Amino acid sequence: MSRHIAIFDTTLRDGEQAPGCSMNLSEKLEVAHRLERLKVDVIEAGFPVSSKGDFEAVRAIAAKVKECSIAGLTRAVFSDIDTTWDAIRNAVQPRIHVFLSTSPIHMEYKLRMTPEQVLERLVESVRYAKSKCADVEFSAEDAMRSDMDFLCRVVEQAIAAGATVVNVPDTVGYLMPDEITARVTELMNRVPNIDKAVLSVHCHNDLGLANANALAGVMAGAGQVECTINGIGERAGNTALEEFVMALKTRQDFFDCDTRIDTTKIYKASKLLYNIIGNSIPLNKPIVGKNAFKHESGIHQHGVLADRRTYEILTPESVGVKQNEMVLGKHSGRHAFAQRLTELGIDLTKEELDEAFVEFKKLCDKKSVVTDSDVEALVAHRKVDFNDYVLDSFNVHSGNDANSVAVMRMHKDDKKYEEVALGDGPVAAAYKAIDRIMKPKPHSLEKYTIHAVSEGRDTLGEAIVKLRFGEETVNGRGLSTDIIEASIRAYINALNKMTIEFSGETEE
Ligand code: KIV
Ligand code: ZN
Repeated sequence: MSRHIAIFDTTLRDGEQAPGCSMNLSEKLEVAHRLERLKVDVIEAGFPVSSKGDFEAVRAIAAKVKECSIAGLTRAVFSDIDTTWDAIRNAVQPRIHVFLSTSPIHMEYKLRMTPEQVLERLVESVRYAKSKCADVEFSAEDAMRSDMDFLCRVVEQAIAAGATVVNVPDTVGYLMPDEITARVTELMNRVPNIDKAVLSVHCHNDLGLANANALAGVMAGAGQVECTINGIGERAGNTALEEFVMALKTRQDFFDCDTRIDTTKIYKASKLLYNIIGNSIPLNKPIVGKNAFKHESGIHQHGVLADRRTYEILTPESVGVKQNEMVLGKHSGRHAFAQRLTELGIDLTKEELDEAFVEFKKLCDKKSVVTDSDVEALVAHRKVDFNDYVLDSFNVHSGNDANSVAVMRMHKDDKKYEEVALGDGPVAAAYKAIDRIMKPKPHSLEKYTIHAVSEGRDTLGEAIVKLRFGEETVNGRGLSTDIIEASIRAYINALNKMTIEFSGETEE
């Protein structure tokens, strides 16, 4: 029987702490629910001591997600362990994740502790965590650059103190796969009580080896792998969940291991995360990139037409990518539209379907061919439709020899607004005019991206903006065949969400 490998997802902790990847509470909850549907074993929901926002997010996820263990990360400090326990205690399966560095460089320069002090601290903190929670994970930070004899003692004592899982991270992504194999093998052979806990690997991608290293760890006996959706994480990121899981599944013959993951949900999870952090999927990203299942050269196309297996080692369907060649257009009726939604795995109520169909028909007037990507974007946008301030119309004048001018007309309830503003470009001018109408709290535009949803000149442009208001961020998204309109809609959407999510008011 093949060996089960537990998937510990740290998208909401290691991933979220990377620059440009921050999420607000409702976005974290949405990601957590998606991870639950994906069937990860453990969700590391955050680092509760790091901020009030993180604490609240971990607590909310612990209360809502029922099908996975919920872990909270903590330093090896009693008061931090107390706070972490408060955040996760309502979870169906809570896990306290204690970490402490064990490499010479970290112990000397970061902790300013001797190895013996580190051992003592880890034992007392794991014991303390265990007194609160049955499931305790201990991570020996920078384990892969730690002295091997010392690391064996660390792992043994963490297990003796009550750790159910011991994680040996390659914190700086330094090791080669063979070295990971050697280290994990040595731990499996030398630590006398290793059978009392699960050994875990957590690999960073600084040298592009995170997935290879995680797989090497599994080959040598690790029973848990820590990873993130799309590989987001500190610096160059972590092992990408989708790459690791699909490597294990595609090469079952080699690894003889499996996971609980429902791989048909991978693409949706990846796309959701990219949408939330305001990026689009890189074309050549393994498993989920647009080109991952495309065959351009004549020789390849010929082979694939004869038998897909000539150039495809996994099917698009196995990761939830639909390859539907049938397109919708202005002659498509409600029934065809509803059927396509079902094929795409999108469930709508009757009212939602009615609304989406109206939007679909409007789109057909602008676009001759409506693709699956268009339909998905249309429905996703309908879901984030906060209609506080509503765009009525706009005019933008722009050229390369003068400032741009924007005139915005909007309404809220029965009140109509009109403002004019100048800016360096059409989007800047429009945003200034919107600010004059909506009077938002002080904020900065942290991210602005625009991308084509599908192909062709009449494609829909999707704009995503991320606004920062102090500690909090909100994303807004806008969709239109006109990229200025998409940008305007994204900004209004973010400001409306901000008004709803934080404090309930804009500044007068
Ligand atoms: O990379 C690392 O060492 C970590 C630990 C805190 C698990 O993220
Ligand atoms: Zn890490």
